Amino acid sequence: MAQFYPEEVIQEVRAANDIVDIVSEYVKLKRVGNRFTGLCPFHKEKTPSFTVSPDKQLYYCFGCGAGGTVVQFIMSIERIDFIEAIKLLAERAKIRLPEGDYRGDEAKRFEKKQLILKINTEAARFFYRCLHSQEGENGRKYLRKRMINPKTATSFGLGYAPDSWDALIQYLKGKGYAIQDILDAGLIIENKNKNTYYDRFRNRIMFPIIDLRGNVIGFGGRVLDDSLPKYLNSPETVVFNKSRTLYGLNFAKNANKNELIIVEGYMDVISLHQNGIINTVASLGTAFTHEQAKLIKKFCQEAIIAYDSDAAGQAATLRGMDILTEEGCRVKILSLSEGKDPDEFIRAKGAEKFEKAIRESKSLIEYKINLLKAKYDINDIVQKVDFVTELANIFAKIDNAVERDAYIQKISEETKISSQAILAEIKKIISKNADKGNKSLKNTREIVPEPVAIVKNSSENNIVNTRLINAERMLINVLCYDKFVFNKVRELIRPDDFSDDLHVKIATIIYALREKDEAVDPAQIVSRFEGEEIKTATSIFQIEPNFEDNLKAAVELIETINKEKNMQKIKISLKEGNVEKLHTLLIEYKQK
Ligand code: UTP
Ligand code: MN
Repeated sequence: MAQFYPEEVIQEVRAANDIVDIVSEYVKLKRVGNRFTGLCPFHKEKTPSFTVSPDKQLYYCFGCGAGGTVVQFIMSIERIDFIEAIKLLAERAKIRLPEGDYRGDEAKRFEKKQLILKINTEAARFFYRCLHSQEGENGRKYLRKRMINPKTATSFGLGYAPDSWDALIQYLKGKGYAIQDILDAGLIIENKNKNTYYDRFRNRIMFPIIDLRGNVIGFGGRVLDDSLPKYLNSPETVVFNKSRTLYGLNFAKNANKNELIIVEGYMDVISLHQNGIINTVASLGTAFTHEQAKLIKKFCQEAIIAYDSDAAGQAATLRGMDILTEEGCRVKILSLSEGKDPDEFIRAKGAEKFEKAIRESKSLIEYKINLLKAKYDINDIVQKVDFVTELANIFAKIDNAVERDAYIQKISEETKISSQAILAEIKKIISKNADKGNKSLKNTREIVPEPVAIVKNSSENNIVNTRLINAERMLINVLCYDKFVFNKVRELIRPDDFSDDLHVKIATIIYALREKDEAVDPAQIVSRFEGEEIKTATSIFQIEPNFEDNLKAAVELIETINKEKNMQKIKISLKEGNVEKLHTLLIEYKQK
């Protein structure tokens, strides 16, 4: 959210508008115990499930889950946005909001981003027009040579940067943009000695890089001949972060396929797209990153790496595979015959052959085995030993025994190395690893009496532990209301120890506010969230922790949390069939 007012102002406005007063103007409220109830204005109902708490300064509907602070109430009932709601409430409470050209840093950044995106869009239009004008003749000729048809070129917004030092500068200046902003967009370069500027992209085919919302965030530019550098990319800017970008994802996301094909370059994406294979993205020449893998994971479960078959491509494939696997993607590798990239392959052999290659793409294990086979000459006895050791290292990582056996069988037939020999090697590695694992576990336990690493997102493992969730929620309430108890137990549990992401966030806010010795109350905390989290956070504060002794309760809750977190780990090891880990955990659990 672009926030135009500082946090203190927002809190002041909120605090100056009592939620019961405001809600009463729209809903008939009746006092019941320590809260007010009424018919929910946000859904149809006959018996009241809508509540307003004067103590907490929150509203919550037990029927439809609507909830939040007075600000969300005004936003929902008046159907206005956050800033408008703040304005309305400020006026009501006669609070003067900072005005004039006052802007929060966040807002300034937001505006700058919008400006850069506008400049990029203008530049893309300029390049496009150049391609289709007289001076774009050579550019068009080059695209014909690369067999890109005009329709494809247009859907990718391809353009041409004229062979000039200042054509773009002049154009953008003419549109009223400031040099500094054009510079910040990465489109021009400063000549520091002469205090002049020149166009970054000259005499190049231009590839706009478009994000998922359709914004032009940067450019790639290719020379028309063999000069270097072959491709030039926009530098990192406030809107362009290479490690978080995948070229072509704006199209690929609509392919609705279970898998995405990852290629190296712009031309590969465009060429495959032209041949009807639109689930393709390029990682833009840089090393594949975890952020890119996370992005892929959002759209599909499987990634097929189709990098060039040269040595650099192979090395990049191996790294990419590991990163994707770590992010939970299934990975396959498409190998093309020697020296070809997907663009050359599909031009030479056609779409059908490429689709066939996709179907025949190899699993990670097969790919690694093939690389090993190419690396060693197994007719040589010394090399054969190394081959088996490396092979066993790969196999030891396969969790599924049936799958592992199948591979051992296959490789043993192919290489005439006995399967017992391979198996013996694997066993050595596994027992060595297990030793290592045990040692580190023991060490951790000696130093930290608390359970070790916990699983952050329980739903990922499909095990939801309501006892754990409830204990954490009750504890959050106690920590929120009772400063004395907070100070007593703050070292026993830290925000990161909570098992649910939202609980971690709420605890972090409570700890931070207490650190600064500021007031901690539910509305103060809830107002720091956005969207759905507001409702969930509000619902957490519907719990009434009526303990006789808050301190005793907090200590017990922390014990429950630790115990349940351990239980959680036990269930997961059980699911994984990790007997050794299970054993250690059970002993720990009983001791608690
Ligand atoms: P390649 O050199 O494999 O080029 O670079 P390519 O995609 O096959 O290009 P064509 O077919 O000759 O046109 C792969 C990718 O690496 C990045 C680009 O994103 C390119 O598409 N790259 C390459 C650069 O950023 N700079 C370079 O100088 C070269
Ligand atoms: Mn190529």
